[in-house]
Amino acid sequence: MSEIKKWILEIDLINGNSIIKKLQSINAIDTNFKIHSQNNSIFIPLKHEIDNLSVLLNGYEFKIFPAQKNSKNLIDRKKTHSKSLKETLKEIIPSEFHNLLPRAFDIIGDIAIIELNRDEQKPLRPFINSIGQILLENHSNIKSVYEKASDIEGLYRTRKFDLIAGLNKTETIHRENLGKFHVDIEQTFFSPRLAYERQRIAKLKTEFNLNGKIWDVFCGVGPFIIQISKKNPKAHSIGTDINCRAIELAKKNIELNKIVGNIEFYCQDVKEISISQVFSKFQNSISRFIMNLPEKSIQFLKNLPQFIQKNGALLHLYQFNKKINPIQEAKDIFEKELKNTRIKLKEYKFSKVVKPFSPNIVMTVLDAIISL
Ligand SMILES: C[S@@+](CC[C@H](N)C(=O)[O-])C[C@H]1O[C@@H](n2cnc3c(N)ncnc32)[C@H](O)[C@@H]1O
Repeated sequence: MSEIKKWILEIDLINGNSIIKKLQSINAIDTNFKIHSQNNSIFIPLKHEIDNLSVLLNGYEFKIFPAQKNSKNLIDRKKTHSKSLKETLKEIIPSEFHNLLPRAFDIIGDIAIIELNRDEQKPLRPFINSIGQILLENHSNIKSVYEKASDIEGLYRTRKFDLIAGLNKTETIHRENLGKFHVDIEQTFFSPRLAYERQRIAKLKTEFNLNGKIWDVFCGVGPFIIQISKKNPKAHSIGTDINCRAIELAKKNIELNKIVGNIEFYCQDVKEISISQVFSKFQNSISRFIMNLPEKSIQFLKNLPQFIQKNGALLHLYQFNKKINPIQEAKDIFEKELKNTRIKLKEYKFSKVVKPFSPNIVMTVLDAIISL
C-alpha cells in the first residue's frame, strides 16, 4: 500500500467560501494540490491534521479522510495542465453564476487584482474567498489577491482594495518591458495596462529627446520617464507628482533600474510650478512633455509655456474621450484650450486610442509639436 500523503476535507459546495476563509486564516490549505469539486462537494487538501477541526467548523457538515499518492482526490497542481481562470472557477461555482465571472484580472508584481464588485456580480459574493484561493493556486507567482473596492479616485488617482486571499501587502515590484518598478497599489497610481503605450513612448526616436529636457508632468512612480531614460541615457529627464509617496518610490526606481543618465524627481503640485524656486532653473528648457492625467491634463496646459524651449517641444497629451469619434474630440478640446494659453500647435505627429476606459469612454493620446 502506498504511503498516506495528505488529509482531504470534504465539504458541501455551498459552504465552500466560509470554510476556505476559516482555513486560510490558520494557513491550513496545501496549495501544492488543487481544491476541486465533484457533484455537490468541494475537496480541500490540508497541510496537516488540524486539532479541534470540529470547533473551527462548528455548525458545518464535513468529512476528513487521508488521501494517498495518486488518489483521485489529491491532484498535484504541477502535474495538471493549467486551465483558464474561468475554467477553474467554473468547477467550484454554481453554473447559474458562470456568466458573472470575470474574464481576466490584472497582475502587478506578485499581486493579482480582480473585479468582482459590480452590482450584477452580487451573487458571486459568497464565493469571493474561494475565487481568491483558486487564483493563488493556479498562479505560483501570485502571493496576494485583492479585489477592487472603489473606482480610481481623488487627487492621487488611487483606489481602495480588499484582500481576498494570500498575503496582506500592497507593495510589490512589477516588471514591465525592460524595467522594474516598486509600486504600492493602494498609495500610488499604477496601471499595467499602459505597458504597450509606455514602450511606444520610450522607443520613440525624436530630435526632441536631446535638444532639451524631457518632463513627465504627472510621473507617478516613474514608469514613463524611467523607461525613456533607459532608452536615452544621454537625455536629461524630470518627473513631477503631487503624491510624495509616488515620488519616494520613483526615486527608488532610479536605483532599481540602474539608471545612469540624469533624472530628477520632485514632489510638486504642477499648478504651483510657476512659483517654484527649484523649478525656475528649467525655464525655456523642456523639449518633450508627457501629460498622463487623462481626466485633467488639459487644465494644466497653461502651466507649460514658460518651460517650452525656443525650438518648440513634443507633447504627449492623454485624455478621456467619448468612444464615438474620440480622436476628433481630443483634438477639438486640445485646440480650444490652446486659445487660453500662449502655446501654438505646429502639427500632429501621431494620435491613437490607447485603451478602453469604460463602456462609452476611451483613453486617447495626441503627439503634437507645440511652440510659443
Ligand atoms: C494617471 S496617474 C499617472 C501616473 C504615471 N504617469 C503612470 O503612468 O503610472 C496621474 C498622476 O498625477 C498626479 N497628480 C494629480 N494632480 C497633480 C498635480 N496638481 N500636480 C502634480 N501631479 C498631480 C497623481 O498623483 C497621479 O500620480
